[in-house]
Amino acid sequence: MDLTIVFIFILVFLVSVLVIRKPKTLPPGYFGIPFIGSVPMMRKLRGKRPHLVLFEESKRIGNIFSWYLGNQLIVVLSGYDTIHEALVKKAEAFSDRPNFNRNPIFPRTNGENGILTGRYGQCWRELRRFTLQALRDFDVGKASIEEKIDVEIETATAFLQDTNGKPTSMNQLMQKIVANVIFGIVFGQRYDYDDPEFDRTRAMTNAVVTGEGPVSFTPFMPKFLVNILKRTDAKNSDIRRQCIVDMRKYVYKQIDEHEATFDRDNIRDFVDIYIQTEKEGDGSMRKFVTKGNMFRVIFDLFLAGSETTSTTLDWVFLYMIEFPEVQKKCQEEIENILGDKIIEYSDRSKLVYVNAVIMEIQRCCNLVPINVVHSTSENTTIGGYNIPARTLILPTLYSVHMDPKYFPSPEKFDPDRFIDDKGNLIKNEALIPFSTGPRTCLGEPLARMELFLVFANLLQRFNFSREDPNKPHTMESKQSQITNAPVPYRLRATKRQ
Ligand code: HEM
Repeated sequence: MDLTIVFIFILVFLVSVLVIRKPKTLPPGYFGIPFIGSVPMMRKLRGKRPHLVLFEESKRIGNIFSWYLGNQLIVVLSGYDTIHEALVKKAEAFSDRPNFNRNPIFPRTNGENGILTGRYGQCWRELRRFTLQALRDFDVGKASIEEKIDVEIETATAFLQDTNGKPTSMNQLMQKIVANVIFGIVFGQRYDYDDPEFDRTRAMTNAVVTGEGPVSFTPFMPKFLVNILKRTDAKNSDIRRQCIVDMRKYVYKQIDEHEATFDRDNIRDFVDIYIQTEKEGDGSMRKFVTKGNMFRVIFDLFLAGSETTSTTLDWVFLYMIEFPEVQKKCQEEIENILGDKIIEYSDRSKLVYVNAVIMEIQRCCNLVPINVVHSTSENTTIGGYNIPARTLILPTLYSVHMDPKYFPSPEKFDPDRFIDDKGNLIKNEALIPFSTGPRTCLGEPLARMELFLVFANLLQRFNFSREDPNKPHTMESKQSQITNAPVPYRLRATKRQ
């Protein structure tokens, strides 16, 4: 072998060991080679479901462990107690996001800021406050949004009835229900389910979510390295970038049309609330509620609010066909307590078992298994270890929902774990599908309402069964997505008498 190559090899090795050797006070785990990272850990993750790999590693190394992606230090947090300590008790230090603007996953943002990827600071706080307030003004949890959901349930009922018990996929149907609810809230409009424009618009946000895991190489490596290491990742990030450009055009067009027809005495939707704030809001609000920021916020609502809720509903119906006895028990409860009246959100406290089933499905399907990536905004500590500022934090929600301390026999699907001896619903603090702390899901009330109304009303009207009664469907999730989605399945829906 050429002596120069041997010399370079030894030099790189020594630099790796001496320069980036893990200081003792960092959490245990893997050291990283400069610009490349912790190769053994990356090899373990390759082609596997990342949350399962991280969970196994946490059992081996501990609830707090670290590794490197490129030069980026990553700390993985597992179990309810550890994650609660970080995201709630030490929220000031653990609530930031990585600087997504520098990464190829999102394009340069022209100074636009949103909520989901917004850095923990005044702009994020004001945009979150504005959006929560706007959703409340639109009566999330009260009548007007419930009416929008009811319209979608009626459309879905007609669709399912038309299948005449023939196999059908719930996935697309659930996506359309949920997307139309957000379109209604944000732009005051809904699409017909067979309108090709509807598919095109939904495709914009879908492509941003699919194909990218939270521990993918892409966001934390220079593009040239991504191209060499993983061609599909690089291709996906190009598709994502184009989708964001298209989505910006779409949102700006909507804002322009709203401005042309704006009437302060008839506020129609979220965009109108934005226009009103821009015209009449107080100074600090107007500084942040700008057209560019509104594009990012609306983009976040579609991105964070559509796929999450529709995929949870997809899981819900999969659980119903695989656990027909649970389905029957839900239907009996609905029948005994509410008969055949249309189920309203105000009925939810009466349906204890239905609520317990939704909670258990959310626990088991682990929709966002690794959570959205957090980052430390300052030097801090956890569990006696030092965590430097700008460390990437992966608080694995999967590990919380599989924590036997809070959920005995966690592998078992058992809705009764949420019901006490007196038949009341048990509130388990460790059930956190929407995360916890200041960055907890902003759409939780809306998502809860959609899950309850769609599930309860459709179960009241239909029996759901497997496409082939003798072929059980896998309950394992699909590979490599930010969200845990079921392997595609079809079911039969037959009208109940
Ligand atoms: C079943 C449905 C849903 C699940 C399981 C879910 C889960 C989550 C999770 C785990 C996070 C990350 C929290 C963190 O970083 O610690 C999040 C954030 C967020 N979610 Fe949801 N979500 C759902 C539905 C929705 C809906 C319907 C909307 C809005 C229409 C929404 C909007 C958001 C936003 C804007 C954030 C970012 C919050 C922030 O960074 O401050 N989500 N969600």
